[in-house]
Amino acid sequence: MRELSPEFTILALETSCDETAAAIVRGGSTIVANVVASQIDIHRRYGGVVPEVASRQHILAIPTVVEEALAQLPGGWEQVDAVAATYGPGLAGALLTGLNAAKTIAWARELPFVGVNHIEAHIYANWLIPQEPRTKPALSRAEGNQEPRTDNNNSELKTQNSELAPQFPLVALVVSGGHTLLALLEGHGSYKLLGQTRDDAAGEAFDKAARIMGLGFPGGPAIQRAAEHAPGGVTLPRAWLRDSYDFSFSGLKTAVLHQIQGRQNRESSVARSPSSAAASAKQRPTDNRQPTTDKYIAQLASAFQESVVDVLVTKACDAARAFGATEILLAGGVAANARLRDELARRSPVPVRCPPLALCTDNAAMIAAAAFYRFEDGRQDGWDLDVQPNLKLA
Ligand code: KG4
Ligand code: ZN
Repeated sequence: MRELSPEFTILALETSCDETAAAIVRGGSTIVANVVASQIDIHRRYGGVVPEVASRQHILAIPTVVEEALAQLPGGWEQVDAVAATYGPGLAGALLTGLNAAKTIAWARELPFVGVNHIEAHIYANWLIPQEPRTKPALSRAEGNQEPRTDNNNSELKTQNSELAPQFPLVALVVSGGHTLLALLEGHGSYKLLGQTRDDAAGEAFDKAARIMGLGFPGGPAIQRAAEHAPGGVTLPRAWLRDSYDFSFSGLKTAVLHQIQGRQNRESSVARSPSSAAASAKQRPTDNRQPTTDKYIAQLASAFQESVVDVLVTKACDAARAFGATEILLAGGVAANARLRDELARRSPVPVRCPPLALCTDNAAMIAAAAFYRFEDGRQDGWDLDVQPNLKLA
């Protein structure tokens, strides 16, 4: 273990799913540049991420995204000390683009290179301190892609916890589109897996349930919006899996489907009755994608969100108590969920740390943060490092 300078500057790339991202981070915590080109509008029309389309878009976007990040680093390339990239888990073709681009940069500029675990990086988003706002440089659009967003202008990035780095032992609740797990962190890079999902990840459950409810993609933000101001009235089950820190969300998704089908059956039997004309006035067409009324969908979205949040929060708090954690770290795309953030903060026995919203979903700043501690640990990868689509945290 060596201590790196707070000026040690890492260029990191992230391409594990549908965001092409490049970031520059100093000292493992200070964001100099954080550029994310989202492909979400392209995948939305298919109702989910199409892996082959994602790979092609990464190839189109990566040069622009790297250039924009570098343009924000005073002194440019000469100031970069090391390079990092996600090597797993994720979509193989998508990972390849970022990993190969990063290795090429490191080789050409004779810089040290390290591969980073994407799940670990989500946790390390909690070590990041965003930089002061700066002017967004003009940048040409990546062909066929959205204009990259530079997150460092975002006032949301004023994190609530930038003063003190997290102190071990910590419990991390990682909730993303691909993963849901609880881990105990006893030091940098030291993880004990406490529990994980036995079927769908939390984000995957949000996406699938939103699809069933006709709310669009990505499902998490859509369900959160639909659930705002929803009247109560619908309750969905919770899969507690007692005496375990594991999770299960696939039954909940099926419960949503059954609720909608039951409602539709009742509606169609009412519709067949002679006095039903008025009842159908505010209804959507009754197929699985466009079911029933907006109010009912809002109630269902709220019940779904409450069920997921209740189980996640209960297990994270139990783990924090059982393992004497100093804090709970929330991480991953679902950590952007307002109900989850509020409820965890309200019920936790210890302080809760959440990344600012823009650092919950995929970005490369978190990759740089995790890479910093790998470099401090003396780790470095060779040019033979390959992608590992099924890489585990522990
Ligand atoms: O971490 P992430 O960007 O990608 C993966 O590594 O998987 O997470 C994406 C997931 C999606 O499933 C999306 O629906 C979910 O995060 N998500 C949310 C919210 N924002 C994004 N889920 C619930 N509430 C949100 N506000
Ligand atoms: Zn992610």
